[in-house]
Amino acid sequence: MPFINNDFINDLSNQVDIVDLINRRVPLKKAGKDYKACCPFHDEKTPSFTVVADKQYYHCFGCGENGSAIDFVMKYDHLNFTEAVEVVASESGISVVYDQNAQPVDPKIKRYRDLMQKVSEFYQYQLKNSPAKNKVVTYAKNRGITGKIAKRFDLGFAPPGWSGLFDHFKQDLEVVKDLVEMGLLVAKKDKQGEYYDRFRDRLMFPIHNAKGDVIAFGGRVLSEKDKPKYLNSPETPIFHKSKELYGLHHARKHSHSIDYILVVEGYMDVVALHQGGITSTVATLGTATTPQHLQTLSRTTDTIIFCFDGDRAGRAAAWKALQITLPIIKTGLVVKFLFLPDGEDPDTLVKKESLKDFEVRIEKAHTLSKFLFDHVKAELDFDTIEGKTLFIEKAKVLINQVTYDLYHQQLIEGVAQEVGQSVEQVKKVFDQQDQSSQMPSVDEPPMPHMGEHFSDFPPSEPIVVQGPNAKGLRSKMITLLLNYPSLAYENNTVEVRVRGLKKIDKKFEILLELVQSAQMIEEHDITQEELIKPFKNKNTIYNRLNQLCIMEPYLSETQAKEEFLGALYTCEKQQKNTQNKAFINNASTIEERKKVMENIQKGKLKKK
Ligand code: UTP
Ligand code: MN
Repeated sequence: MPFINNDFINDLSNQVDIVDLINRRVPLKKAGKDYKACCPFHDEKTPSFTVVADKQYYHCFGCGENGSAIDFVMKYDHLNFTEAVEVVASESGISVVYDQNAQPVDPKIKRYRDLMQKVSEFYQYQLKNSPAKNKVVTYAKNRGITGKIAKRFDLGFAPPGWSGLFDHFKQDLEVVKDLVEMGLLVAKKDKQGEYYDRFRDRLMFPIHNAKGDVIAFGGRVLSEKDKPKYLNSPETPIFHKSKELYGLHHARKHSHSIDYILVVEGYMDVVALHQGGITSTVATLGTATTPQHLQTLSRTTDTIIFCFDGDRAGRAAAWKALQITLPIIKTGLVVKFLFLPDGEDPDTLVKKESLKDFEVRIEKAHTLSKFLFDHVKAELDFDTIEGKTLFIEKAKVLINQVTYDLYHQQLIEGVAQEVGQSVEQVKKVFDQQDQSSQMPSVDEPPMPHMGEHFSDFPPSEPIVVQGPNAKGLRSKMITLLLNYPSLAYENNTVEVRVRGLKKIDKKFEILLELVQSAQMIEEHDITQEELIKPFKNKNTIYNRLNQLCIMEPYLSETQAKEEFLGALYTCEKQQKNTQNKAFINNASTIEERKKVMENIQKGKLKKK
């Protein structure tokens, strides 16, 4: 991130008109030399909030809030310092001066952002003026979206047909190139210089960054029989799914105090919650929660409440969010989990219940520790000694990831209470080095999640250690292959290696079939549809593959290859480690065990 020049910051307050800036947010009334309003930062009936124009300063005699234009925007718009400086400058028509030694802002990025804004305006125009607009307007109405909320979120309409967007922008070849880079136009295979619209006949949700620039789009089909339900922009130089949160900008803009942020799963959930009156809410963009998401959120609020469906997929997503949270949780940050009744999401529930009922649910959200203990207990028979032993072991692995000392200590006390032992006893276990860590390790550092939206729950094989990310790695390889089929035929060892993996773990079957499918058509320019056609009659797999098709990794072919081979290697290593562990565990005497260990070191183990 570029640094803003210090002199510029010092001088900015002299250049802006604080009255104009505040008046845009809180209508001011002239009172003598100064201006007055009811204070936006506390509840009051008679105005004690004063803006002193000649000192470029505001002060509330009621609550004591005071400061400069930048302070006001930070507080009112919930922005950090840099963001506020940028907003104040831009609203005052002043260009920000960045430091010479800092990275210059890539001019391309600015061009992309301006273009995305124009595209968003195009889609909004279509919502009002397209000959096909009736369909989408009816759809939006049926879902209870009011005009006011549609405007708040700049909702739009990607018209049906293949070239609405293209036709609008085709005059300028540079722009067309940028639209391809932004993933909004797709080059036709075999037909050089021809393009089609990526989003067609969809209700469009522009995705904004925290500052409010449009950086991507999500589009929903209007009819349940069309697929995929949501199509999202691919990763681009200005859009990184793992970092961005849908609705963050709106949450900051429309909530006066952010006591908590609700993290929900879908675009429509955010929109419906705003409509219901809950504005402090964001959605992840079809991906699992990432550490970056958490970091961003913890800068905005002290309390993060993950809100998921009560079904299996929802619980799995929540569990993943918990695992991401453990190493990150820090002083002052509270993380909670809200589970909705099976089959409901915030969108359906906030329409069915009153706002008050929904707020009661928010108040009753489970603490992280409760969810952690409940979840681990559900995986074992807690009423037996064996179950309790396993409970301690499992809780230990999780809790020992917490680096926030006091919280770590509290969680240990929680475990002691659960199992009815003394804190000292439990602490001793927690301090013991993990015995299995002396064996070949299967624990890889956690990987960024990709295509992990729908996952197994609870872990389907409690005994066979798969490596924490076997599933994620497989999804990743499949996504890469779907986007770069050449991976399968340019390196002739790939098939042999994937076959090797599949021999031991049947779950690699789909990957293997895809590799083979890609190889068969090697000479041609194969489409994703062709690639996944062999799976058409296997419903779940086909749907999942379709989902993975949407997740376009924004990589060059070489990077994709490196990522693919890296994942392949990790899977092989994990499989080997798992096997070794099994060999060791199967050895019945200490002597045998020693021998097995020696053989592993010499690399001499063979499957029986
Ligand atoms: P859901 O399938 O839970 O849909 O996807 P939803 O949010 O309830 O949508 P409605 O109410 O039917 O309109 C949750 C989120 O997962 C991503 C989207 O971000 C969506 O909001 N998703 C889902 C996709 O990216 N692609 C899909 O095909 C489906
Ligand atoms: Mn929904």
